[in-house]
Amino acid sequence: GDAPLVLGIETSCDETGIGLVRGHTLLADTIASSVDEHARFGGVVPEVASRAHLEALTPTLERALDRAGVKLSDVDAVAVTAGPGLAGALLVGVAAAKAYALGLGVPLYGVNHLAAHVAVDQLEHGPLPKPCVALLVSGGHSSLLLVTDVAREVISLGSTVDDAAGEAFDKVARVLGLPFPGGPHIDRAAASGSGDAIAFPRGKYDDGTLDFSFSGLKTAVARWIEAREAAGEPVPVADVAASFQEAVVDVLTRKALQACARYDVKDLLIGGGVAANSRLRALAQERCDAAGVRLRVPRPSLCTDNGAMVAALGAEMLAAGVPASPLDIPADSSLPV
Ligand code: KG4
Ligand code: ZN
Repeated sequence: GDAPLVLGIETSCDETGIGLVRGHTLLADTIASSVDEHARFGGVVPEVASRAHLEALTPTLERALDRAGVKLSDVDAVAVTAGPGLAGALLVGVAAAKAYALGLGVPLYGVNHLAAHVAVDQLEHGPLPKPCVALLVSGGHSSLLLVTDVAREVISLGSTVDDAAGEAFDKVARVLGLPFPGGPHIDRAAASGSGDAIAFPRGKYDDGTLDFSFSGLKTAVARWIEAREAAGEPVPVADVAASFQEAVVDVLTRKALQACARYDVKDLLIGGGVAANSRLRALAQERCDAAGVRLRVPRPSLCTDNGAMVAALGAEMLAAGVPASPLDIPADSSLPV
C-alpha cells in the first residue's frame, strides 16, 4: 500500500511552513511568511513572528490539505521542528503539533531543524548517500554537518562563532542601502561587479577548524565604505557586493571541501536560504568537480525554511523505526544536532 502520510510543521523563524509527504513524495508544501512585517526593523522580531505563526498556522494547513487532496484524518504521523530557533515561534508549532497528534491518535516526531534541511533533499534527488557532508547556510545558521544517517545520526563538524552567513549578507546589504533581506539584492548587484576588486578579509581561513566567522568581514566592509564616504568618493556598490560575496563563498566552499576530504566523503549537500546564491552554487560546483565530489543542492523553495523538510525528516524517522517523541516534548531554542 501507500507509504504513511506525514504532516510537517515548521515555525522556527519567520516562515509558517506546512508540508505533506508520503515516503519521498512531496504532496504539498505551503507557506506563510511574516518577512514583510520584519523588513522595517531590518531583522526578524520574535514577538511579531510568534503572533504571525498563530494567525497563519490553520489557514496554511488547510491550503496544504486542499492541495494534496487529503483530509486531516488521513494523516498517519505529525512532525514538528522542536529546535533550534526562536523560542516563542517554536512553541506555536510544537503546541499545534501536539494537539493534532493527540487528537488524531498518531505518533509525534519532534525534529531538529538542521537535520530537516538535510532530509528535504530526498524529496528532490532521492535517497541521501551515506555518509554525506552538509553545508547549511541561512540567516540563522551556518553549519557543517557529517550526516551518517539523517534519521538517527547527524554530527556537527563546525559552525559560525559569530554571525550566520545570511546575517552577514543582510548586514552588508544594509550598509549598502539595499532592502532586507539583503542576500538576493547583493547577489544581483554583484553580477555587474568584480569579486577580486577589493581584498576583504576571510575569517578563520587557515585555522584548521571547520568553524566560520563573518563578523570581521562585515566590519571590514562597513569600514571600507565609511572611508570612501569620508574621502567624498562614490561607493562602487557592485564591486563591494561582489568582493564581499566572494569572501563569504570562498570560505564556505573551502571549508565544505576540507570537511569532505577530512572524512573521506564524496557527496556534499548545500541547503539553507544562502544556497540560492548564484556565486556559491558556481564556486561549489567548480571545487566539487576538481575534488571528485558530487554536489546536491535542492531547488530554492526547498532550501529556505519550509514544512516539507520537517515532513521529510518525520517520514524518514518513521520508516527507520525511530521511537516517537513523548507528548510533553519541549520546544528547545538551542537544540543541538
Ligand atoms: O533559510 P532562510 O529563508 O531563513 C533562515 O534564515 O532560516 O534564509 C534567509 C537568508 C537571508 O539572510 C537571505 O538574505 C539569504 O538567506 N539569502 C541569500 C540569497 N537568497 C536568500 N543570500 C545570498 N544570496 C542569495 N541569493
Ligand atoms: Zn533554516
